[in-house]
Amino acid sequence: MKTERDPFIQKRQESGVEYMRAEGQEMPLVLRLQDVRKICKDWKTFSNDDPFMIVPHSEANVRSVRQYPIETDPPDHTDYRALVEPFFRRPNDANYQVSMQHLVDEVLAAAATPDCVDAVSDLALPLQSRSLARLLNVDDSEAKLWISWGTHVFKEGDGISKGAELSSYIREKFEAAEGSDADDFFSVLNRADFQSRKLTLEEKHGFANMAFAGGRDTLIHTISSIIAYFAAHSESLEFLREDHARIITATEEFVRYVSPLTAIVRTCPHGAKVLDAVIAPGGRVGLCWPSANRDETAFTQHDEVVLDRSLNPHVGFGFGIHRCLGAAQARLIIRSLLESLCNQIEAIKLIEAIPEVEQESSFERKVGYKRLLVSFIPRVPRALRPGLAA
Ligand code: HEM
Repeated sequence: MKTERDPFIQKRQESGVEYMRAEGQEMPLVLRLQDVRKICKDWKTFSNDDPFMIVPHSEANVRSVRQYPIETDPPDHTDYRALVEPFFRRPNDANYQVSMQHLVDEVLAAAATPDCVDAVSDLALPLQSRSLARLLNVDDSEAKLWISWGTHVFKEGDGISKGAELSSYIREKFEAAEGSDADDFFSVLNRADFQSRKLTLEEKHGFANMAFAGGRDTLIHTISSIIAYFAAHSESLEFLREDHARIITATEEFVRYVSPLTAIVRTCPHGAKVLDAVIAPGGRVGLCWPSANRDETAFTQHDEVVLDRSLNPHVGFGFGIHRCLGAAQARLIIRSLLESLCNQIEAIKLIEAIPEVEQESSFERKVGYKRLLVSFIPRVPRALRPGLAA
């Protein structure tokens, strides 16, 4: 269990670079925290302006549009990002936070029976989808359909494309919202002005695509991994209950430790040199978040979960201009989940875990769970505990 999420340790220490086969190239993956940060800052050399190629294996066969704002560079990126920022800032609002805590309490209470439940399909997936409906300011009932899409919206586990369903759904939503003055994501993007013109349908589609896909499996894998952690360390719930400030540090620590996204890729239009790796013009380089987040020169006990870690300069949500737009939402969901677990759950019993493993030419890495069967042991209310008054 200790090193299963860190297949990069040896290369990180030896050379700082791991090579993987992607799109017919031996693509270097940058492994150390400072090198990853450096590349994130230099968007002129390391560009995002390469549609479908933001991940190691091209997504051209599973989606039809460029994703916004991620697959763009400044100055356009700055203007595109500004259009959707108000939605992604909603989790900073106190009322939104209260409503999210209620939602998480409700979803956990429904899932947390002493019977066997799947923490992926019964907890993580409904949490992700129902909270996305809140973020995009659309009716809760929309989430039912999103839940039915499963963990991945572009591909089945066997790699077969299912992106067409998401595409038709998104296009229908923009069409239905035509002329509406409502404040939901689709209506607002229909009305948005970008550099003194309206967005094209392709651009709106690309924004929605990112909103639906970007924070889906990342969040689902993080939530299921948190449940697996507490199943293995029941005493840790008590540790959080002893000091609520630990819920904040634990949230950051789970993002660092789980690092569900293995790599995001940059393209080098003019070529580049990264450590010993020479990248030809048009070549690509991967930013390996989980390895950077285990960099032993930056993190003490780098391969352990330290729930009260005070200094935690992780890059789980990226770094620089493309840092995760959904970070406030993801943090709020994780914090609310930890709060609900502390209030509702005494212990979690693991029944069966089927990990989700990414297999590449030179490494394999556990990113989360396909299925995580557990049973939740509820907390006995204080008033009912023997010897304790209400
Ligand atoms: C634990 C959950 C999450 C993790 C680990 C994560 C990770 C990341 C990372 C590493 C990046 C940087 C990409 C780059 O440098 O090119 C990123 C960007 C992004 N993420 Fe997330 N993410 C999470 C949740 C979410 C959620 C919930 C949403 C939306 C609902 C979201 C939407 C985005 C968007 C739109 C960007 C692109 C920002 C830009 O290009 O300016 N993410 N995410």
